[in-house]
Amino acid sequence: MDLGLRGKRAIVTGATKGIGRGVVELLVAEGAHVGFCARTADEVAEAVESIKRPDVNVFGEAVNVRDGEAYKAWLDRAVTALGGCDIFIPGVSGGAAMDSEKNWVRNFEIDMLHTVRGCEALMPHLEKSGTGSIVIIGSTNAVETFAAPMAYNAIKAGLITYAKQLSQYVGKKLVRVNAVSPGPIYFEGGAWEMIKGTQPKFYDWAIKQVPSGKLGTVEEIARVIVFIASPAASLITGANVVADNGFTKRVQL
Ligand SMILES: NC(=O)c1ccc[n+]([C@@H]2O[C@H](COP(=O)([O-])OP(=O)(O)OC[C@H]3O[C@@H](n4cnc5c(N)ncnc54)[C@H](OP(=O)(O)O)[C@@H]3O)[C@@H](O)[C@H]2O)c1
Repeated sequence: MDLGLRGKRAIVTGATKGIGRGVVELLVAEGAHVGFCARTADEVAEAVESIKRPDVNVFGEAVNVRDGEAYKAWLDRAVTALGGCDIFIPGVSGGAAMDSEKNWVRNFEIDMLHTVRGCEALMPHLEKSGTGSIVIIGSTNAVETFAAPMAYNAIKAGLITYAKQLSQYVGKKLVRVNAVSPGPIYFEGGAWEMIKGTQPKFYDWAIKQVPSGKLGTVEEIARVIVFIASPAASLITGANVVADNGFTKRVQL
């Protein structure tokens, strides 16, 4: 199947590691031009060096997406470097931590505001595309009770609702908006490796929730995100695609 990504221009936030890195590598393998960021400049430079190919344009630059002005300026530079934008995947999260007002502010400013600011800033470019597509990263933490009443879980739910309503608003401009909600994704240096080391009982519980006994990998979730972002998924908009290898137990009617 041809995903129709050759020559498309994609902007991804948070992509030197983990899921974002997997998404950017797959987009480039499919012939898309990519712009991405993270906060750590030498890791961005390493990622650009390792991902770049002669036939695609790879733009990477360090920015903290929590800094609204710096982030908007970075989005402008990414659009200029790529010559436009067909796909936006805001991947950065403030992460999950036990509840406190500090975490609510952090998850609001990072998860929610950087997504909304990015969608608003890039919308004129996505509208010009003809195949504009936004994939917002949710979480299974938003769709079922998980661990504790964390800001992360509630704000991910807000993002999924935002994705649905934005999809209705911009559909006439041929921009699709979806959420992809991963279940636990295991990778070296990621949250689940940390949980395995620090909370082994909780980690074992999580493994038992997956019928196959295997947590997801970066490559597996990147394939879902890149497919939903691609023109091949032209019928899918306003969806929340739960990709969790059976981790959640609800019936998705
Ligand atoms: N991993 C899972 O099991 C899982 C499950 C469900 C949903 N998700 C969601 O999937 C997305 C990616 O998760 P992940 O686990 O792959 O994340 P990760 O390993 O923590 O990777 C985060 C990436 O974002 C960058 N980053 C972090 N804060 C940033 C900021 N303020 N500004 C710019 N860049 C920033 C990091 O680099 P620097 O540190 O250098 O900035 C890194 O490149 C998140 O939205 C997460 O909530 C993950």
